[in-house]
Amino acid sequence: MSPQDTNSFNPAAVIVLAAGAGTRMKSRLPKILHPIGGISMVGHALAAARGLNPERLAVVVRFERDQVAAHIAELDGTALIVDQDEIPGTGRAVQAALAALDAEGEVEGTVVVTYGDVPLLTTGLLEELTATHQTDNNAVTVLTAVLDDATGYGRILRHDADGTVLGIREHKDASDDEREIGEINSGIYAFDAKVLREALKKVTTDNTQGEMYLTDVLGLARHDGGRVAAVATTDRWQVEGANDRVQLATLGAEHNRRTVESWMRRGVTVIDPATTWIDSTVVLDEDVTLLPGTQLHGKTTVARDAVVGPDSTLTDVQIGEKAEVTRTHGSGAVIGAGAHVGPFTYLRPGTVLGADGKIGAFYETKNVTIGRGSKLSHLGYAGDAEIGEDTNIGCGNITANYDGVNKHRTVIGSGVRTGSHTVFVAPVTVGDGAFTGAGAIVRKDVPAGALTLTVAPQRNAEGWTAAHRPGSISAAAAAKSN
Ligand code: UD1
Ligand code: MG
Repeated sequence: MSPQDTNSFNPAAVIVLAAGAGTRMKSRLPKILHPIGGISMVGHALAAARGLNPERLAVVVRFERDQVAAHIAELDGTALIVDQDEIPGTGRAVQAALAALDAEGEVEGTVVVTYGDVPLLTTGLLEELTATHQTDNNAVTVLTAVLDDATGYGRILRHDADGTVLGIREHKDASDDEREIGEINSGIYAFDAKVLREALKKVTTDNTQGEMYLTDVLGLARHDGGRVAAVATTDRWQVEGANDRVQLATLGAEHNRRTVESWMRRGVTVIDPATTWIDSTVVLDEDVTLLPGTQLHGKTTVARDAVVGPDSTLTDVQIGEKAEVTRTHGSGAVIGAGAHVGPFTYLRPGTVLGADGKIGAFYETKNVTIGRGSKLSHLGYAGDAEIGEDTNIGCGNITANYDGVNKHRTVIGSGVRTGSHTVFVAPVTVGDGAFTGAGAIVRKDVPAGALTLTVAPQRNAEGWTAAHRPGSISAAAAAKSN
């Protein structure tokens, strides 16, 4: 479908139903706020709906109303939030939304209804639904799928001879014969606004569940002479909802499988798709390689030819071209082009590693800017610090940035060489080209080009082992050597 075609099918409104309680999640967090691929389920629903370019968008809320409404407002400031009253059912929810939309100007044309808990639904499938609905001049078009196990779903009733859609029967209201039907109602529809408005006036709560069923609109529209039809999808994942945490995980895994596959098609090498998790919000360049056990979250970006993994979890981390990040846990960090991080490295927010730099094994960093080509190779902590270019920080160095009350900064210049086990007692500044000796405790500023030594004289007590550890392995070894 060309963009022009899709534009001509823009619906007048999309209504996202999100008032349900989600009891089976057994969670304090409202169901539709549970995330998949780094985005809440309702976030996915809003994105799919917005992709249709509807003139207006409404979301119906009720359960945990304030929390849900605040979340929706944050994601989509122009969505109209509609409260459902105590009358239950999908029909009542849509009626409330239509009334609220009508109050701002009567809706004319196509109204699409979707759910807030169907996270894999795409704009593409909604476009197909809307296009069929409008091209065929339907009163109602329902999105259906054929499932092996249709238990619990509303079933599509069709005319035996010509297959025309007659209506929908809820599972709880269905006869044994009707329960044999494998074609289910996804709960996603395109309606003509006028047909919807009129039919909803006639929908009652006279059924097993005592709810206003939106599904009753199909039979009513047909009765009034409207065309009712179905678009059947073969991609069942796109119509599946998450009702409990088992389904949440199943849908999450399928969502991830799709995300990973789409990146591979765009030129990313993924060695083990099953153990690679990529949020919807992550951006990768061509020729990035992801090794097994890599999880990329949030606004993480990875530039060309970089290699990430194995076993790395990165949230909001920007990785430059040709960088290598191995067995690293990081968040809120920037890794320059050609830089090396890991293995076993912990990058905390505010870490900025310059091009060709290195943060090596068993290093923790936080709020530190490291210049081009500088290396912190092994065993240490760098926090609240600024390090210049081409500086080499020796093994086991730490910035002592916290005095128990306040955090203080360490500033280290360019071309500096620090000895093993140097401690920088902040606030302190080390000038360009300075050296520190092994075990130096830098309490005072070091001028450019100086060598700093913390001189603690060494004393050897001869014969100490024989005197104080007689009969030990050490004493025997010493005796043999003397
Ligand atoms: C509904 C359909 C059923 C379909 C199934 C697909 C009806 C009567 N039945 O059944 O044919 O096969 O979805 O999943 O429509 N909601 C509200 N307000 C309410 C009730 C529900 O906003 O008063 C929202 C829920 O948050 C949810 C959606 O509507 O997003 C569906 O509600 P749910 O209770 O799951 O409907 P089902 O009984 O499963
Ligand atoms: Mg349901």
